[in-house]
Amino acid sequence: MRQQEAQLPAPSAEALASSQQLLAHIATQITAAGGWISFADYMRLALYSPGLGYYTGGAAKFGTAGDFITAPGLSPLFGGALAHTISHVLAEAGGTVLEIGAGTGQLAAQILAELERLEQLPAQYAILELSAELQERQLATLRTLVPHLAERVVWLERLPAEFTGVMVGNEVLDAMPCEVMQLVDGVWQRRGVCLTDGQLSWANRPCQDPVLLAHCARWPQIDGYCSEIQLEAQGFIRALGQSLQRGLILMLDYGFPAGEFYHPERRMGTLIGHYRHHTVHDPFFHPGLTDLTCHVDFSAMYTAADQAGLALDGYTSQASYLIDCGILEQARQLDSKSVEYLRTAAALQKLLGHAEMGELFKAIAFSRGLSGPTAPGFRQQDRSGEL
Ligand SMILES: C[S@@+](CC[C@H](N)C(=O)[O-])C[C@H]1O[C@@H](n2cnc3c(N)ncnc32)[C@H](O)[C@@H]1O
Repeated sequence: MRQQEAQLPAPSAEALASSQQLLAHIATQITAAGGWISFADYMRLALYSPGLGYYTGGAAKFGTAGDFITAPGLSPLFGGALAHTISHVLAEAGGTVLEIGAGTGQLAAQILAELERLEQLPAQYAILELSAELQERQLATLRTLVPHLAERVVWLERLPAEFTGVMVGNEVLDAMPCEVMQLVDGVWQRRGVCLTDGQLSWANRPCQDPVLLAHCARWPQIDGYCSEIQLEAQGFIRALGQSLQRGLILMLDYGFPAGEFYHPERRMGTLIGHYRHHTVHDPFFHPGLTDLTCHVDFSAMYTAADQAGLALDGYTSQASYLIDCGILEQARQLDSKSVEYLRTAAALQKLLGHAEMGELFKAIAFSRGLSGPTAPGFRQQDRSGEL
């Protein structure tokens, strides 16, 4: 454990016991694999091992009592803004909404409430969520925030073979396992995890995988350079594309186009952990209690969508996207003397501020079979040329 991590708040005895159980499970997997697993395999075990992983276990995760706050937790106007893109597409293509990785369920509640106001409620709102623990939380949130609409929500076990409507996900791609590569003495190595004296530790292996090496060939060839490749997120976008018959895929997340992501100065990549609102740089810090994430390479997502025959509808900053969806007009409708107005003003500062989420976070949309004008969100500023 690094010095910085040693100063973080200690987990409860119960949480620590759960983390130790997960550690034992990961150690068994490493031994069974011959002493080494890829970082992507480690990240999958740490986040999604049934009952023990960060997202699949009992960690609080979201909000002030958890490890991080996402946009739907800042203001209901966030989901309200996304509903304007969704409503526009449903009006043209029909169909339903499929949300991927719905977290607490707040975003679903916000989108449904605004779609109802816009008189564009779909018959069904489907959620695809890996975590059974979060599925339960989502149902409870919907029953509390939009009880009259909760019946419309269904949870899917897998992507539908054919889907029409809007697929939407906020901060989902960054939570998918990533490969980590490093250039050592002129050779690209695949970073993985082994056991050293019973503790998890990094272990590099020379890489022969042509897909991984093709990615690295485009990176700065600087000795020691280290970065991530999101093969799983790329595959996920292709799978969404294969399912989508007509409609839109809308994804919001933090990240950059490839040129900015794989910049010579970003020589240690973007992989980080979140623990109790602190950034953690040791990915082995309390597995199962620490969120692991890497930024999204939006150029790679565009390539994956293109391979699935999707059209790129727009790519822009979160600030530009939300403003074009009318988030400021929605805020102006609040009573300027109310507590809600003050709370909303603070939230908008976070969501739109250039130094906060406004520029680091992006919105990207892919479509199939849409002929109408560009959807709200991407009309004011389109940065597709950066991808
Ligand atoms: C960082 S959280 C974001 C949650 C929520 N969208 C929000 O904005 O608060 C990531 C979510 O994605 C889910 N997730 C990750 N990979 C997934 C996958 N392949 N399919 C469905 N859900 C997934 C996680 O379980 C979790 O709910």
